[in-house]
Amino acid sequence: MTVTVGTSTSTAARAVGVTKVYGSGEAAVTALDGVSVDIERGRFTAIMGPSGSGKSTLMHCLAGLDDVDSGEVFVGDARVTGLRDKGLTDLRRTKVGFVFQQFNLLPTLTAEENILLPLAIGGRKVDRAWFDTVVDTVGLRDRLGHRPTQLSGGQQQRVACARALVGRPDVVFADEPTGNLDSRSGAEVLGFLQRSAQEFGQTVVMVTHDANAASYADRVVFLADGRIVRELVEPTAEAVLDTMKHLDGGVA
Ligand SMILES: Nc1ncnc2c1ncn2[C@@H]1O[C@H](COP(=O)(O)OP(=O)(O)O)[C@@H](O)[C@H]1O
Ligand SMILES: [Mg+2]
Repeated sequence: MTVTVGTSTSTAARAVGVTKVYGSGEAAVTALDGVSVDIERGRFTAIMGPSGSGKSTLMHCLAGLDDVDSGEVFVGDARVTGLRDKGLTDLRRTKVGFVFQQFNLLPTLTAEENILLPLAIGGRKVDRAWFDTVVDTVGLRDRLGHRPTQLSGGQQQRVACARALVGRPDVVFADEPTGNLDSRSGAEVLGFLQRSAQEFGQTVVMVTHDANAASYADRVVFLADGRIVRELVEPTAEAVLDTMKHLDGGVA
């Protein structure tokens, strides 16, 4: 048997037999039950499934935000499983970027300061040409001096996307990034995530329970009860909805 260790050039992140249990005894909840998945480099992958199926847990385990009970996780050339504090801090600063449902911008900082904050914290140099490309792609050029309260929800989420991309991480993880947006702003953010994979080769993993959002991805992985149960390549919203109907728990 051939055992592959780490990630290949075409794989940006990988989970191998990952199990995650919250709580213990009678209160134990198996959030992930032996999940193995390869996240292809430069592609936009959606993780889809009903509420409580383990989507956020899988994302947190892949990103090194949460530890696993068994199995292994790799990001880029790093084995995440078993990393201690410093290694995990380095991973979060340099190898992964995040976009959250609640934007998570710092209210006292301008858009530009928010975008550059992870680089500042990590003591990393700013690639100005890349910063300009990212800012122009998300259409924030004339909003760089604004604070979050002076921006719409869609603009705030585009700041968060720029912040995630500016450090050129191995993977950008987005958890329900359109959950707090109207459909037009949501479509802008989804279009941007899609283009960052297509035009910049950025690997993007997005957790969503929205079939339309998932249809922007190159590939959709379906979770139900902590297991991967289906997969669609080049999904349409109709195909995603149809697949969801046949999963445990029905449509989220
Ligand atoms: N911190 C936690 N403590 C206890 N149970 C949790 C915790 N986080 C998630 N769970 C449980 O794990 C399961 C999967 O949760 P989650 O990954 O958040 O699902 P999803 O993102 O698909 O809605 C759910 O049953 C949830 O209640
Ligand atoms: Mg979730």
